Amino acid sequence: MARFEQERNFLKSNFVEFKKIRTDKMNGFPKPPSVKAYDALSKTITLPEVSENVVKKQHIHDLIKNRRSTRFYSDEHLSIEELSYLLWATQGITGTTKNGLTLRTVPCSGATHTFETYLFIMRVDGIPQGIYRYLPVEHQLLFMFKLDEIDNKLDAITLEQPFVPNFAKKAAIAFAWSTTPYRSEWKYDISAHKKILIDIGHVSQNLYLTSESIEAGACAIGIYDQMMVDDILQLDGEEEFVVFMAAVGKKQK
Ligand SMILES: Cc1cc2nc3c(=O)[nH]c(=O)nc-3n(C[C@H](O)[C@H](O)[C@H](O)COP(=O)(O)O)c2cc1C
Repeated sequence: MARFEQERNFLKSNFVEFKKIRTDKMNGFPKPPSVKAYDALSKTITLPEVSENVVKKQHIHDLIKNRRSTRFYSDEHLSIEELSYLLWATQGITGTTKNGLTLRTVPCSGATHTFETYLFIMRVDGIPQGIYRYLPVEHQLLFMFKLDEIDNKLDAITLEQPFVPNFAKKAAIAFAWSTTPYRSEWKYDISAHKKILIDIGHVSQNLYLTSESIEAGACAIGIYDQMMVDDILQLDGEEEFVVFMAAVGKKQK
């Protein structure tokens, strides 16, 4: 099927072609920063130290078995400790390589970690509603801005949901993971893009399993309006853009 050919090729390993390329890294271009910079005068919230006390279900076997995409949420708030745990589980730093790369709770091709985590916070105890960015090195939240009608804006971004219409606006929080592809392209050139998509799958699965462990539920969101979300999060849409989203909330009983 000719019209699928190009997209299917994207799924294949292009390692042989990649071997013929001199990457920007080989050509001596400077290594891009591994995390996004921020203004030191910005308002930040220090997240509580990650503690397993928030975990209500411990058994990995049960978490894997019982995980489902959850699209019906109660009005219950998440606690700031639970949010701290979910952020750590999806992008938290747990080590560094001898070359200064971060190692995190999720595996990632060549430890390139091209993602930034943006949050639509609707219902978390002690955190005003608004748009935030996770600072993994500091384990802090960077307050970006208050967004009027945050739930309706999220609804507009995630329109045309096939299973449960308008579910995201009822979540306690929504994750929007951006990618800065050059962090991987610098090293992997044309083979970066497939890797980035595989990497984000690992992030999402950790969110699913840890949400389940705190008796909340997550639902991945691949159907979203690219331009609208990039625009709201003030991303340029070329060097950095949203690559995946997910909603999380306490489950409706
Ligand atoms: C890449 C990806 C994109 C998805 N996008 C959406 C979405 O936009 N809306 C939605 O309701 N569910 C979405 N889902 C959830 C799937 O529909 C769900 O995983 C699937 O129906 C299987 O159900 P389960 O997760 O409960 O096992 C997505 C899942 C993945 C992995």
